[in-house]
Amino acid sequence: MSKISYQQRIQWFHQARFGLFIHWGLYSLLERGEWVMFHERIPVDEYRLLADQFTGEAFDADAVARLAVEAGMKYAVLTTRHHDGFCLWDTNVTDFNSIQTAAGRDFVREYVQACRAHGLRVGLYLSNKDWREPGYWEPELYPESAAKVVNDLHAMVEELLTEYGKIDLLWFDGSWIDVGRKKYDMAEFWQSKKLLKRIYQLQPHILVNNRLEIPADLDTPEQQIIASESGRGWESCMTIGDEAAWGYSRHNPMRKTASQLIRNLSMAASSEGNYLLNIGPDGQGRIVDEDAALLRRMGDWLKIHGQAIYGSERFELSKTFYNQCSCTKKGNTLYLHVNRWTAPEMVLPLFETRPIKATLLTTGQSLDINEKSNGRIVLGRLPMVPADPDMCVIQLDFEREPALINEIDHASWLYGQAAVVEAALPT
Ligand code: GLC
Repeated sequence: MSKISYQQRIQWFHQARFGLFIHWGLYSLLERGEWVMFHERIPVDEYRLLADQFTGEAFDADAVARLAVEAGMKYAVLTTRHHDGFCLWDTNVTDFNSIQTAAGRDFVREYVQACRAHGLRVGLYLSNKDWREPGYWEPELYPESAAKVVNDLHAMVEELLTEYGKIDLLWFDGSWIDVGRKKYDMAEFWQSKKLLKRIYQLQPHILVNNRLEIPADLDTPEQQIIASESGRGWESCMTIGDEAAWGYSRHNPMRKTASQLIRNLSMAASSEGNYLLNIGPDGQGRIVDEDAALLRRMGDWLKIHGQAIYGSERFELSKTFYNQCSCTKKGNTLYLHVNRWTAPEMVLPLFETRPIKATLLTTGQSLDINEKSNGRIVLGRLPMVPADPDMCVIQLDFEREPALINEIDHASWLYGQAAVVEAALPT
């Protein structure tokens, strides 16, 4: 364990809520996702030739960091090495890196410096596996190579955590063996416990994700939003477009809309989770215009609605109501993130406490508050057209901690008595 408590280490992450994931490497040149080497079974020597073309001439770490800030993101995670084994930093572990090939640049250093300059927390993604090693695929047939894969991983962690200053988040990935003959205990295979211990020794404040086959600090549901228990850090990572392509894919018709992205962010925040949104710059390192525009749109939305997202706590609305809006909480304030606009009124069922003030955060306009049976709060005077085309937020201020009616007798609302269910139940 780290000598710094989990609570302390997780604090910034809990505030942050929104981060940028960047998948970029040799595969970006082939324009069909980061799994292309394996999917198409490209031999090592042939794949290696890509490094001769990989100059990163359009990769501008400063512009990437600026864009992340404009998007309202608070941290970033860059693929320092993906499963193809190509390293974007000045490593001594392998010569398959961006310093000793065409680019002649340490992209990790550029990225780390840019993040710091723009006030972003620094995350590094590091693939456990290296597809180029036969021992990764068949550890029993190639035991020396298998040992090398593990030793390389440990040595790379050592470099990344000693040569680049303070790293806030270490993001492992790909700890499983894809087509091996038998089931391995992968935590044993990677010597994960030993590695984690060393990581906390080198950087005691760091957060480590759960992909070393031990839980460590963060859960990382992929392409879906699944909340962890309260108190445990979690982050939902998602592609901005096609689910199968984290790396650049020229044809990307499945790009999400701004309202989908905002809704995902809001859903993650409503369960105290973060949204790690991925983009794949092209082979030269250029960010696709459509992606940049979507990120900026999110930033504009966050400028107005950020107080409902950053550092928010969870408040579960009644399950059946979840479709209409999700909700975040801060002290005695609730924020309703409205998915379906029901002007001129919006009805919220099962409220035990009554708000003293309702404001449409999107415009600052105050709303009427009325009450009906079954704890229904009726918000009135909502503009007929939602003031934000993607998502409006309503702020409800209470005098004390807001609470919902606990429906123990699930039929009592039929008689307008949802509020007195406990007393009504036979003992
Ligand atoms: C999956 C993909 C991998 C990607 C990762 C991001 O594991 O296989 O390519 O880097 O998701 O979470």
